[in-house]
Amino acid sequence: MPPRPAATDRAPRLQTLPEIERALWRELERAVHDREHAWRTPVLATGGCDEVDARIVVLREAYPEHRELLIYTDARSPKMAQIQARPQGVMVMWHPGLGWQLRCRVRIEPEVSGLAVSSRWAQLQLTPAAQDYLSPLPPGAALDEAPSQPPAAPSRELPPRHHFAILSAQVEAIDWLELHPEGPRRAAFDAQGARWLQP
Ligand SMILES: Cc1cc2nc3c(=O)[nH]c(=O)nc-3n(C[C@H](O)[C@H](O)[C@H](O)COP(=O)(O)O)c2cc1C
Repeated sequence: MPPRPAATDRAPRLQTLPEIERALWRELERAVHDREHAWRTPVLATGGCDEVDARIVVLREAYPEHRELLIYTDARSPKMAQIQARPQGVMVMWHPGLGWQLRCRVRIEPEVSGLAVSSRWAQLQLTPAAQDYLSPLPPGAALDEAPSQPPAAPSRELPPRHHFAILSAQVEAIDWLELHPEGPRRAAFDAQGARWLQP
């Protein structure tokens, strides 16, 4: 295990499992709005038929009441094929200030069309982030040389086709691990309820 976080600047240690579950979802919501939040960029691990993969993503939306996390992506990215073959994934994040690791077991539903996609794209296309979803080449395509030019700004007259997609991750189970000067604690939150685990 990594060194335990220092005891200074810590909020009082939460004592009950419901308190901890509420607090971790509150942090997930904060991570969406706070660019500096350590959980804003979790690792998303997926596995296709015969391979496993992992990559950093940005946590874009969090809905505690539905236990749902949303990620935005390019519909042509290789992770989409993996998820279509096998929708199970794991999102892993570490918060050094809280000393909390989360491992969220998720079931991912990709959305490439429909109201959820079009309404978000309507907002996103007005921002510089739109470029992430407008490339003529798919992510991972081979290039003859390093790209030298920044991508062109989208034309308002003839908008290029976008490849914006949403990965909707239904959180089925959370494995929470706390590293603390008084000793580590671990708990599971899943369909069986909440329970303490040996760290
Ligand atoms: C800080 C950071 C944030 C990223 N955010 C996203 C994201 O929100 N969505 C995404 O699809 N890729 C994101 N990426 C790129 C992915 O890590 C990955 O390189 C890309 O999606 C291709 O992954 P794939 O080949 O597994 O599909 C991010 C990378 C970094 C370093």
